Amino acid sequence: MWDVIIIGAGAAGLFCAIEAGKRGRRVVVLEHAERVGKKIGISGGGRCNFTNVHTGPENFISANPHFCKSALARYTPADFIALVEKHGISYHEKKLGQLFCDGSAQQIIDMLLQECDAAGVEIRCGSVVSTVAGAATGGFKVSTNFGSFNSASLVIASGGLSIAPLGATDFGYRLARQFGLRIEEPRPGLVPLTLTAQLLIELSQLSGISLDVLVRSDGRNSKEFRENLLVTHRGLSGPAILQISTYWQPGTAITINLLPGHDVFEILLQNQNTGIELGNLLSTYLPRRFAHAWCNLYTGSKPLRQYDRRELQEIADKLTQMQITPAGTEGYRKAEVTAGGVATAELSSQTMEASSVPGLFFIGEVVDVTGQLGGYNFHWAWASGYAAGQVA
Ligand code: FDA
Repeated sequence: MWDVIIIGAGAAGLFCAIEAGKRGRRVVVLEHAERVGKKIGISGGGRCNFTNVHTGPENFISANPHFCKSALARYTPADFIALVEKHGISYHEKKLGQLFCDGSAQQIIDMLLQECDAAGVEIRCGSVVSTVAGAATGGFKVSTNFGSFNSASLVIASGGLSIAPLGATDFGYRLARQFGLRIEEPRPGLVPLTLTAQLLIELSQLSGISLDVLVRSDGRNSKEFRENLLVTHRGLSGPAILQISTYWQPGTAITINLLPGHDVFEILLQNQNTGIELGNLLSTYLPRRFAHAWCNLYTGSKPLRQYDRRELQEIADKLTQMQITPAGTEGYRKAEVTAGGVATAELSSQTMEASSVPGLFFIGEVVDVTGQLGGYNFHWAWASGYAAGQVA
């Protein structure tokens, strides 16, 4: 008999195990893959963007934007940084508060494993769970290829659907449904967007160039990000697009400002009498190949004096409000996260315990709390794992 069974040895599961183990609970973590923390290992280009110093509720998307507040307030970036420093792991801020290991993401996995060891946590890799049921004696009975495990508390930390080769399954959603809990429809997040065949051909002239843009999603989840955009041979990518993809709703347009921070109409007006061609003028603000290809596509490139005021306004609008309706996303194969998940209305924001099923907890990515790009998803894994680990 265990006190706590945790299913999934990723970021959230390992962190929760450490916290519960430190309280003297007998904890076993069941992981179906042959090793723990695969996503941590490849995260952040192999350096793991393990938190963000600016983490706050506004960096997360959820049907209930307030749900994450309590857990984030009780486990902060400073807390995780202290743990990283205790283990002598050197790190740096890359940009925008994003903290990465100087060395390798494996250091974070090793840190979590050392902490698990110190807390007396048992980890069983290669565990294939066949059934989960409420035990007759109370608590839960989990049947696996290694036999049955019973426990008072059961924590589901099996993550989302993104990148199946790294161990992703729909286990958490199925289990939630089995216990009658509602799911916010899962969808790929932090994912490149695809274009219709026609638009792809049109924009292929712009491909391969990275640009600093301001991108906005329209509709219900209106949001904007200033980051880099990349036109690829499959569609749109780069951090600006990954960020907006989580907020984008199929069928709606995104609006791209190719020259953020500039009064483009004013610049065009000021240069109207200089004799300069539009493409050459834009080349002083945009990569040259991009500027000329863009003019080819949308405006042509005449000397500015040949455009009247109304035409210059139209050009400025096209540059600052370029509207594109993506065809879709590249899906879970390429998504860094899964948005949606176990509905927060079913869970306590203090403990992550299901209100209708005492002893059953959901943490990490399987919950309908999704971070923006920049270390926020790992921070949610730590914070939600910490919250559950105090009571499970
Ligand atoms: P996670 O997916 O980490 O762990 C779930 C575990 O459950 C896995 O070990 C899985 O094998 C196991 N499991 C699944 N089904 C099971 C079953 N039926 N039985 C037993 N075990 C099961 N975030 C960030 O903040 N900074 C970053 O740098 C990056 N970088 C990044 C790169 C790439 C390529 C990806 C795909 C993702 C990121 N992320 C990220 C996102 C981050 O990796 C992700 O949000 C967290 O790993 C989520 O932690 P969880 O523990 O909830 O799930």
